[in-house]
Amino acid sequence: MQVLNTELVRSYFPALQQDFIFMDNAGGSQILQPVIDKVQKYWIEANVQHGASYAVSQKAKAMLAEGKAAMAALLNPNSPEELVMGGSASLLIKLLAESFGRILKAGDEIIVSAADHEANVSPWTDLERLGIKIKIWQFRESDFLLHSEDLDQLLSPRTRIVACTHCSNVLGAINPIREIADKVHAHEAKLVVDGVAYAPHRLVDVQALDADFYVYSLYKIYGPHYGVMYGKKELWEQLPGMNHYFIKEDDIPYKMEPGGENYELVYGMTGLTDYLKAIALAHGAKEGEELRTYCQQAFDLFTTQETAIAEKLIAFLQSRSNVRIIGPATADPQQRVSTIAFVVEGMKSDEIVKEVDPHHIGIRFGDFYAKKVIASLGLQPQNGVVRVSMVHYNTVEEVDRLIAVLEQIIS
Ligand SMILES: Cc1ncc(COP(=O)(O)O)c(C=O)c1O
Repeated sequence: MQVLNTELVRSYFPALQQDFIFMDNAGGSQILQPVIDKVQKYWIEANVQHGASYAVSQKAKAMLAEGKAAMAALLNPNSPEELVMGGSASLLIKLLAESFGRILKAGDEIIVSAADHEANVSPWTDLERLGIKIKIWQFRESDFLLHSEDLDQLLSPRTRIVACTHCSNVLGAINPIREIADKVHAHEAKLVVDGVAYAPHRLVDVQALDADFYVYSLYKIYGPHYGVMYGKKELWEQLPGMNHYFIKEDDIPYKMEPGGENYELVYGMTGLTDYLKAIALAHGAKEGEELRTYCQQAFDLFTTQETAIAEKLIAFLQSRSNVRIIGPATADPQQRVSTIAFVVEGMKSDEIVKEVDPHHIGIRFGDFYAKKVIASLGLQPQNGVVRVSMVHYNTVEEVDRLIAVLEQIIS
């Protein structure tokens, strides 16, 4: 297995040049210099309205199409039109739920999960006001996963939507989305997947997952503060548009993008695919491949790096009898990502983080808006969990520094 050149990787991130260890990446990752450059390029070369006949407007439109092609390489939709862009994952799911709210009927049912961030919970529970019935799908405490068999008791002929996370932003456990999608579809319901905590770690393939809707934030995958929501074309066709009344229902994705797209941020995402391609090529990939092939090769390298650093931290945490890992106690990349949460017996989670802060290491405590995760596990009294969320640019040396600090705190 090839090792990721982290020195090369880190040279692409200006924020990483300072003496600080960023391990709160599930809250937001650092941004790539190529993304910054591309956003600036758009502003300098093409900052005009689209749809006019003059040359710069035509160029702006072409640059936006390049940005959408980059997003398509990252998600693998049938076509870039299936991608709706918007301010954040929370905002996009809210928009989707409000649109569904216009066609659902009293007595219809929606299943939300206890493993989710509230971004994919409260937009759905808010629909209770329309007489829609909400059911909660618990994850199992034995493996921290959502099990499709547990859906059997919840699904009914009235189920219209199942909303769940691909990966918990606290537990780090990867849920079996394809298996869940098959079950949901067998009941003629739709599956809405929150991919925010998954996408920084693995390349998403919405077609292979067969999710009906799949949402994530770009600022957690080394890009700007913005979000993307995939939906199957036939579903966008059926859903009521959320834009002005005069925007036609077949104007996809615009009918779901009130105010339009943020052009410079969409174009900026070509900086991410450029980076992924450069990393793949620097590690022996062949010239002339499809963009998505390079994306996959880069993410495979990221997975190897993330597994190595996760293994180190998990081994340390397991060696302490007073520590409980809140998530799978393994670094197996099939089972988890490198977002690792834990609690320490006899200590509040905030106490631990406050002692780490002076060491120039950014980690965090709390519920991370995954309210049902923390409540289900009864962890409110200790102020939630301590979360160390690492990505591919974190190094073994950084984990060693964190472990040395934790060794002093967790005696
Ligand atoms: C799993 C998960 N879903 C959704 C969100 C919300 O994302 P956004 O800030 O883009 O609304 C977060 C943010 O932390 C998250 O971790």
